[in-house]
Amino acid sequence: MTDIYRIAIDGPSGAGKSTVAKTVAKVLGIEYIDTGAMYRAIGLKMVRLGIPFVEDEALLKMLEETDIDFAYGKVFLDGEDVSGLIRTNEISKAASDCSAFKSVRVKLVEIQQGLGKKKSIIMEGRDICTVVLTDAEFKYFLTASAEERARRRYKELVEKDPSADYDDILRQINERDYNDSHREVDPLRQAEDAILIDSSDMSIDEVVDFIVKRVEKYNG
Ligand code: DC
Repeated sequence: MTDIYRIAIDGPSGAGKSTVAKTVAKVLGIEYIDTGAMYRAIGLKMVRLGIPFVEDEALLKMLEETDIDFAYGKVFLDGEDVSGLIRTNEISKAASDCSAFKSVRVKLVEIQQGLGKKKSIIMEGRDICTVVLTDAEFKYFLTASAEERARRRYKELVEKDPSADYDDILRQINERDYNDSHREVDPLRQAEDAILIDSSDMSIDEVVDFIVKRVEKYNG
């Protein structure tokens, strides 16, 4: 095995991909790359500039003039750290909508593939095993039942907002699952050579352990 290795994780929203990937990165001392944050940054720019959500010239022009980078656990849009601005409901929707456009995907996949060449990384998203890093040394599909993912999100949200509603969250999760797995371009699906991890009855630590042990074994 070469010195550089790549861990690719795909899965639906709320499966725990980012928490797991961040922790694995820390334990193994490698870089973590959140590709969803890049789609969110493009969504943010479209909202800010009032660019209509259609695949047209205005979108192409904006993409040509846009610089996206992910480093130190943060996403940079034209040099500005927008990590804090992209975690709203409005931008989640904008990210989901713009991620269906071929031109957006082509641009971000190219950046992500570049990031995967420089050093050992763990990258998570929806198409990492199937499109971005098809030759990654370690490939996983991390999922959990929609009900369990909604329960986790509800627990997180209700601490900040007591009016959070479980049924509403479950409905949103089902909607995003449907959008992500039914879009025409690179829909979310498990790669044939990705290992399935169903975390419905697993803790984050158990999932992290499972991934780290395999990498350590492989690294000898
Ligand atoms: O993981 P997230 O919720 O931050 O992702 C935001 C949106 O971007 C989500 O609707 C799916 C989309 N996405 C994608 O299409 N491909 C990726 N590799 C990552 C995210």
